[in-house]
Amino acid sequence: MALSLVLYVSIFLIFLCYKLYHRLTAKLPPGPWPWPVIGNLFDIAPVRFRCFAEWAQIYGPIFSFYLGSQLNVVVNNAELAKEVLKDNDQNLANRFRTKPLDNVSKNGMDLIWADYGPHYVKVRKLCNLELFTPKRLEALRPIREDEVIAMVENIFRDSNKPCNKVKVDEQGEELKAIVTNGIKIGGKLNLGEFVPWLRWVFKDDNNALEAQDRRLDKFTRIIMEEHTIARKKTGETKQHFVDALLTLQKEYDLSDDTVIGLLWDMITAGMDTVAITVEWAMAELVKNSRVQQKVQEELDRIIGSNRTINESDISKLSYLQYVVKESLRLHPPTPLMLPHMAGNNAKVGGYNIPKGSMVHVNVWALGRDTNIWEDPLQFWPERFMKEDVDMKGHDYRLLPFGSGRRVCPGTNLAINLVTSMLAHLLHHFVWSLPIGVEVEDVDMMESPGTVTYMQTPLHVVPTPRLPLHLYTHVQ
Ligand code: HEM
Repeated sequence: MALSLVLYVSIFLIFLCYKLYHRLTAKLPPGPWPWPVIGNLFDIAPVRFRCFAEWAQIYGPIFSFYLGSQLNVVVNNAELAKEVLKDNDQNLANRFRTKPLDNVSKNGMDLIWADYGPHYVKVRKLCNLELFTPKRLEALRPIREDEVIAMVENIFRDSNKPCNKVKVDEQGEELKAIVTNGIKIGGKLNLGEFVPWLRWVFKDDNNALEAQDRRLDKFTRIIMEEHTIARKKTGETKQHFVDALLTLQKEYDLSDDTVIGLLWDMITAGMDTVAITVEWAMAELVKNSRVQQKVQEELDRIIGSNRTINESDISKLSYLQYVVKESLRLHPPTPLMLPHMAGNNAKVGGYNIPKGSMVHVNVWALGRDTNIWEDPLQFWPERFMKEDVDMKGHDYRLLPFGSGRRVCPGTNLAINLVTSMLAHLLHHFVWSLPIGVEVEDVDMMESPGTVTYMQTPLHVVPTPRLPLHLYTHVQ
């Protein structure tokens, strides 16, 4: 008994000495001590970016930790973000894929989870030159406008008869189910991901993954088939992403897996991020009625009360644009962006980042940095009247969409959608808290995960504010 205890203690001490030696000689960023086998897996609080902001107070703006044996580096200020995303852009442009992500992306054959290399360059080019061009986005404008009007319509109906349920067709239900299930599977922090020899313990998770993969594949192939048949019948090419991808498949030499992967990229990257941004902004607007009124004054001045908004009005709504920016500063929906991985050795902040390390930029912490922002926790869109900080990746103080070669390709579409949705919501309705709920009661905490939903979904009450005839076309 005593002998085995001595043995265990010796192994532990050897491990600590090795780690200490490694950290000192490898000149890695400082950080918490890793445990044998699990590393710091259980030291991290569930809402990771908040935990990382706290660790930055202890270890400094760049620190490292281990998930199992996987080294992770986190940077927490604008200068270091620039070193990661500009100075070391290409060295740190790979992706770390967990098993669920490997599955859903067919080993990185999509865009989001592809490592930097010829495949990535090809699909990124497709995005830049075909899918997200101003021309394509303009062609899709009627669809977006219809959807935003449908949203107003549902709210208006609901505010009259709150028990009405929105009908979703069978395909819509299946899409929702696949996305929800994917978030459930992908959200698990699974020890087997970081300690490969423990993978056999998580056999059930792997079975669930395979079932999800088959379901997703079947669903997407049916939709692709429907679009192909419709195209053959009418002989015309619609501007939808599905049709665009299918018609460009040969020209860009895309496998079916890549087409399916790209379609799901757009759904997973574009759907919840936009909805969440609107939800956080609405939370701030009910908490700050002064700002809500100021947006509505602008809407009344520019649009008036005799017509509804269309997308060409958005560029004239400058205060609303500051509101969107301020909301993304405080509540970036992907607060750690998406994890990058070092494809080559790199140096950041004077420390070594070995090839294979995961690298995170804490954009949530950047947006709240007291060295940069005056009164950072205050929701105060007017700060951007003083200095209109860019948020599309050119200014490292504000990076909700990332920066560099992996910057979000949907940035313009996302800003357009969020601004248009908020404009409609605030033009048509005054928003308040339910009776008895005070401003301080609104829970502004985030739930854990790569994408930050509100921990407590927002409950707000809409009151129509335009003349009734403007609601008749949506009734
Ligand atoms: C408010 C909404 C959105 C935010 C805040 C956002 C933010 C981001 C961020 C931070 C990244 C990772 C950048 C990096 O790893 O360096 C990203 C990547 C990506 N986003 Fe967005 N995004 C939004 C909406 C959209 C939309 C609407 C689409 C498309 C329909 C989209 C498509 C993508 C894709 C495909 C990538 C992967 C790019 C790559 O790996 O090269 N996003 N986004």
